Amino acid sequence: MDNNGDEKNINIAESGDEDNGQIVTPWEVSAKDGGKIDYDKLIDKFGCQRLDLSLIQRIERITARPAHVFLRRNVFFAHRDLNDVLDAFERGEKFYLYTGRGPSSEALHLGHLVPFMFTKYLQDAFKVPLVIQLTDDEKCMWKNLSVEESIRLARENAKDIIACGFDVSRTFIFTDFNYVGGIFYQNMIRIAKCVTLNKVFGIFGFTNEDHIGKIFFPTTEAAPAFSNSFPHLFGSQDNIRCLIPCAIDQDPYFRMARDVAPRIGYQKPALIESSFFPALQGEAGKMSGSDPNSAIFVTDSAKDIKNKVYKYAFSGGQDSKEKHQKYGANLEVDISIKYLGFFLEDDAELEHIKTEYGAGRMFTGEVKNRLIEVLTELIDRHQRARAAVTEEMVDAFMAVRPLPHMFD
Ligand code: TRP
Repeated sequence: MDNNGDEKNINIAESGDEDNGQIVTPWEVSAKDGGKIDYDKLIDKFGCQRLDLSLIQRIERITARPAHVFLRRNVFFAHRDLNDVLDAFERGEKFYLYTGRGPSSEALHLGHLVPFMFTKYLQDAFKVPLVIQLTDDEKCMWKNLSVEESIRLARENAKDIIACGFDVSRTFIFTDFNYVGGIFYQNMIRIAKCVTLNKVFGIFGFTNEDHIGKIFFPTTEAAPAFSNSFPHLFGSQDNIRCLIPCAIDQDPYFRMARDVAPRIGYQKPALIESSFFPALQGEAGKMSGSDPNSAIFVTDSAKDIKNKVYKYAFSGGQDSKEKHQKYGANLEVDISIKYLGFFLEDDAELEHIKTEYGAGRMFTGEVKNRLIEVLTELIDRHQRARAAVTEEMVDAFMAVRPLPHMFD
């Protein structure tokens, strides 16, 4: 299916009924009856495209490097117009990457790292500039944080983002409270003029009780999708393509951006979208920053990781040794297997574990031990990188400056 035409007009406010209770908005992710999110349905409903094997192989060919594990394992599973971006790239045209984070908490969890790890791979593979938006304004409004606290959290979160290894010569990190203004703000107003109250209620599910800050906010997340919002990077060029790696719950913002783009004379942004990283307790939704036991945080110690995985990682193993040997584990619901799918890079080893565990020859404890090793190494590496990030480095990433080598 090609959807270069008008964006599907989806009314989130009503979509709960259509999908028997599955709700996916930027603020709420919940599956039907506490079950799993049905991603096929989501693709249909949102009108995006499935990221299939031929597209993954195309990315491998163009970048001359193996596909990232998140592509191989279908973590990034949907897209909009990715083929167009690749066509343009092959013709020698430029594009830039745009992603972001709402700084709602001090410590990021594993799920928060997923889009940044993937964006870092895209930046290295395509050698393109990247803008990262920290929506301190958003979290100030939605999480009821003070303006000052949101600003502080944005700067702390920037350090975790920098620790993911971004290249300062190709990366601009900005916070809304600092950067919104100038052409960026002009674009917000251009966008705002195209979106009626009716429409924004429909796309985002706002109600009459929501304050006006929330209703205007989507223009802030849409503006970075248009290249002239960054004059220090792109001058007055307003037609440089934008590719947005994000979790699929952010799709409504960019549906809106794509909808208005042709009307204000800009290119539609392309998207590459991921599924959600499951909570330790099971796959019903996203992890929660406010429930420390639902997630592994980047600040967790080796001991925390071990305890949480042993205690909370939902097991698909049978409840007695005999039954387990007879029936094997249910891999579909097993969280350790899911997490290894994200972070154990060795395909052969993952297959081996799945076969043995699924056949009941391997037990939950062994799988958990391997997961603990993998996560401990990942978190340890992150903590060391984070500790090396200085205030000067944060200032360097956030400086409004040209990036002369951003396409080299
Ligand atoms: N709204 C996002 C969040 O709460 C942050 C964000 C801003 C973002 N711009 C983005 C995420 C672009 C992905 C892509 O996390």
